[in-house]
Amino acid sequence: MTDANQQGAAAPQQQAIETMQVEERRFPPTAAFAAQANAQPGIYARDFDELWATEAGRIDWFEPWTTLYEWEPPHAKWYLGGTLNVCFNCVDRHVEAGRGEKIAFHWEGEPADELVPISYVDLQRRVVVFANALRKLGVKKGTAVAIYMGMVPELPVAMLACTRLGAPHTVVFGGFSADALSDRLVDMGCEVLITQDEARRRGTTVGLKVIVDEALEAAPGVRAVVVAQRTHGPVAMTPGRDVTWDAACAGLSDDPASCPCEPMDAEDLLFLMYTSGTTAKPKGIVHTTGGYLVGAATTHHYVFDHKPETDVYWCAADIGWITGHSYIVYGPLANGATSVLYEGTPDFPDRDRWWEIVERYGVTILYTAPTAIRSHMKWGAEHAAKHDLSSLRLLGSVGEPINPEAWIWYREHIGGGRCPIVDTWWQTETGMILITPLPGLTTTKPGSATKPFPGVDVAVLDEAGEEVGPGGGGYLVLRRPWPGITRGIFGDPERFRDVYWSRFPGLYFAGDGARIDEDGDYWLLGRVDDVMNVAGHRLSTIEIESALVSHPLVAEAAVAARADALTGQAIVAFVTLRGTAEGSLAMMEELRNHVAHHISPIAKPANIVFTPELPKTRSGKIMRRLLRDVAENRPLGDTTTLADPAVVGELQERAAGENAGEE
Ligand code: WTA
Repeated sequence: MTDANQQGAAAPQQQAIETMQVEERRFPPTAAFAAQANAQPGIYARDFDELWATEAGRIDWFEPWTTLYEWEPPHAKWYLGGTLNVCFNCVDRHVEAGRGEKIAFHWEGEPADELVPISYVDLQRRVVVFANALRKLGVKKGTAVAIYMGMVPELPVAMLACTRLGAPHTVVFGGFSADALSDRLVDMGCEVLITQDEARRRGTTVGLKVIVDEALEAAPGVRAVVVAQRTHGPVAMTPGRDVTWDAACAGLSDDPASCPCEPMDAEDLLFLMYTSGTTAKPKGIVHTTGGYLVGAATTHHYVFDHKPETDVYWCAADIGWITGHSYIVYGPLANGATSVLYEGTPDFPDRDRWWEIVERYGVTILYTAPTAIRSHMKWGAEHAAKHDLSSLRLLGSVGEPINPEAWIWYREHIGGGRCPIVDTWWQTETGMILITPLPGLTTTKPGSATKPFPGVDVAVLDEAGEEVGPGGGGYLVLRRPWPGITRGIFGDPERFRDVYWSRFPGLYFAGDGARIDEDGDYWLLGRVDDVMNVAGHRLSTIEIESALVSHPLVAEAAVAARADALTGQAIVAFVTLRGTAEGSLAMMEELRNHVAHHISPIAKPANIVFTPELPKTRSGKIMRRLLRDVAENRPLGDTTTLADPAVVGELQERAAGENAGEE
């Protein structure tokens, strides 16, 4: 349990964010895991240049690189002079090495009877045919291509076909609106768009092509649209512009020699991944070829302890996010992994769907997000208990700070108490995992992402740019480049400097708060924009939320501040209860006292709103900015990035009711 240790609050003077949480549970690696681990003692002592020079050997280069890196903040370049092809590394070389029959993806459709194993040689054939189709549509090295699809096999095939030709892509998550899609198409200057007729979602279909048609009214630069037929539902096709996937591929060769892998410079653009800032237009985060691939493959190998011969790996993210790019497609395929690729949601047709999948394929490594873990907690452990999960040997988490109780639940109910958990901190901009345990080496602590990956130089600074000592909270910065670091915001170098490099000149500021403890372990405190100021104390959201989640009836919690005449700001908590538990005044009092007891009376929420759902972004992050609007009773700001806009409307009503009855 989290300790009720108020002395823990006494931290260094200069800290920029106060931290109060004390977590004393420790999970050292077992001897058996350590003995077989990819990460062996000594890895942290490796010389920076040696490390990244040696790890580059995971990748096959057409021309060897000559300079390891160049660094002129904010500009990094890696593996200068080297040429390579991502598709060759992810597909062809495995086939050439005689591993063509190995499964690359166990694809599973949302309807549970659609199971398609795709071997490396199948993948190669599909990619070659489709690359030939793109060539016929005029795509060549440098042509910008957009991909707007659900989790169908054609999605990684399309990405790999682009990389084969040297055409940079941007994958737009299939849940985005027509406006979001057209913004991205215009910003990148896309000429070709690959989509599907309809996506399957919870037993119904969502028309993607309809959205595409609307988006293209505002993106006239797109001259060709390829439409994969997932449902064969009726869709309008514009003659001269639209072609079905099958028609585009008809009669084309699947012989790899018919479409050679284009040699690319290490610093050629590989893809853009757009991230929505809280305001203004989305940023096209630039990733280039060599450094990105080395970074994704290396971290996938060590962090997940991946063994290509025996592991069945499942990253349950969507390919439309950076997690899916680095850890479903590029990292795992470069490492010759066998992965699960699942089209649907975790609760369709039932809440045990994920656990059925783990059992079906004998998944050994599972990588998901705290939001998903908390949903499973809310639904109850009985769903996982119905299935044999004994194949699992490693669990991962990414996307938000994980509440210690969610971490423990994951460990016990999914990992059977035996699997190490890697809580991995990184960002779209970092391209690869940067702070993480290394399984077999690191003693883990629930809620801590523990240590920087070897070669990664992290610090926690106060307002003045001084390092905050152990125990104190502050701003997370990176002081040295890594191979996967973004090369910038597409078309906007000024904004790039402004957002990431101006807060602490010469250092990369991630926008997150963090604390380092006495053992040198990192605890991520959430986005600094969400920090609250209560009676002169700067409090991070995650510690209060985790205290709430440590109550046995709470599944999920989010806190935000509203103005308060007395304390400057007062904390409002939004709480989702587990199973069938109901919110009440008595429950509210109990939870307020629980927080006071577990971290500090300062952190006691002034008010608690019970809600069945929290507002989240489409990638599953809690949107505290909107909760602030709700707490303040203000009109809502931009809601376009919300996964389910209905959630805030309901929340506003509930909050209005609660505020009326406030003490
Ligand atoms: C948050 C996802 C705490 C953080 C790969 C970061 C985390 C943002 C963690 C990036 C973690 C991600 N612990 N916070 N393990 N992982 N975050 O760009 O605020 O979708 O800045 O990349 O997610 O989100 P993005």
